[in-house]
Amino acid sequence: MAVFHLKGKKLKGELRVPSDKSISHRSIMLSSINRGEVIIKNFLPSEDCLNTLKAFLELGADIEKRSDEILVRGRGKRSLKEPFNVIDLGNSGTSIRLISGILAGQPFYSVLTGDKYLRRRPMDRIAVPLRMMGAQIYGREGGKYPPLTIIGKEKLKGIKYKSPKASAQVKSSILLAGLFTDEEVEVTEPAKSRDHTERMLRAFGVDVIEEGLTVKLGKNRELEKDLEISVPADISSAAFFIVGALITPDSEVLLKEVILNPTRTGILKVIKRMGADFEVVNRRETSGEEVGDIVVRYTPNLKATEIGGEEIPTLIDEIPVIALLATQSEGKTVIKDASELRVKESDRIKSTVTNLRNIGADVEELPDGMVIRGKTPLKGGKVCSFGDHRIVMTFTVASLITEGPVEIDEVESVSTSYPGFFDDLKKLLR
Ligand code: S3P
Repeated sequence: MAVFHLKGKKLKGELRVPSDKSISHRSIMLSSINRGEVIIKNFLPSEDCLNTLKAFLELGADIEKRSDEILVRGRGKRSLKEPFNVIDLGNSGTSIRLISGILAGQPFYSVLTGDKYLRRRPMDRIAVPLRMMGAQIYGREGGKYPPLTIIGKEKLKGIKYKSPKASAQVKSSILLAGLFTDEEVEVTEPAKSRDHTERMLRAFGVDVIEEGLTVKLGKNRELEKDLEISVPADISSAAFFIVGALITPDSEVLLKEVILNPTRTGILKVIKRMGADFEVVNRRETSGEEVGDIVVRYTPNLKATEIGGEEIPTLIDEIPVIALLATQSEGKTVIKDASELRVKESDRIKSTVTNLRNIGADVEELPDGMVIRGKTPLKGGKVCSFGDHRIVMTFTVASLITEGPVEIDEVESVSTSYPGFFDDLKKLLR
């Protein structure tokens, strides 16, 4: 339990928030099945990403952690070996779902598990297509929940999969399994989800073809490159300081080297519609991803907005903190088409709505989102994090403007994605 009461303080200064979680996971996964040497710079040493790294060590990958970089000496996609023990992926949905795709193409037995939160998250979304490709996958409750047992196959079958969800985890899992077949592999999504797997596969030499909402693997499915990957800062972590600066009088922060991949920048479009005072400067490229520096200033007259449809996957992880922002905006903000939030690290519709109400906001829960009536003064109160890192960070930021203190449980869960969050916050507080 921790108590925060930051009213009267402002956020000032500059920060390079930690590196992108999605790209850090993929850098270890793809380097481990590559034939060649990869140097990973600015890897995110958060619990989720370290769990991916540990998993590949258990699968026999040659990964050397140096003081400021990671060296992976890849020996090709057939080099992994049967793990000696159950692989524990902690809280990380991305790890379990993407690694399952790779294990589907390994002719051995492995068991994947995680913490009590991950063991309640649905895995049928990846198990169903991976079984269609020929892998045997078992799990609790008829194959739905971890622990998952995977018995893969050296040669899988092709698939043309119409994904019912816009999920990068589902798309990536199928594309990774698709490296282990010569047959046609394609995934069509209802809306475009983050495309880091596609971009990184291409950097490793794999043919990836995009046609609208469909992604296909082409002829070359070998990863054979010596590469240096430099991971940019995570916009999902920057989001907490973007919102913090927007709602806290006299604030101005500069967030450096933030990823600006268009499948991730929904939050910037939303704050623009709300009338936020911000700029993106110094746009450039890092390892095939656009990055830039974001300057954000306190904006007293924000307007409500509607968020839904194809925009949702581009800001899915930022919705809790966007909901906090909406409490400080004039009018009614509606967030819809976001039922996926129910199966994140926590049920993020429930955890956001319940906690916003606990601190005094006017919020209504919808089956697929929420309605927030803005400009209500927030009084503070008790917050239950449900073990969810992004809920802890959202409500710590809320304490910049609440009349009274905000009391939050399980705050150590921030290390899932942002181990130095409280230190970085302190650096900006004036
Ligand atoms: C991620 C994809 C998203 C996101 C998660 C990371 C990824 O999940 O919420 O935090 O790295 O592919 P879904 O693809 O399941 O929506």
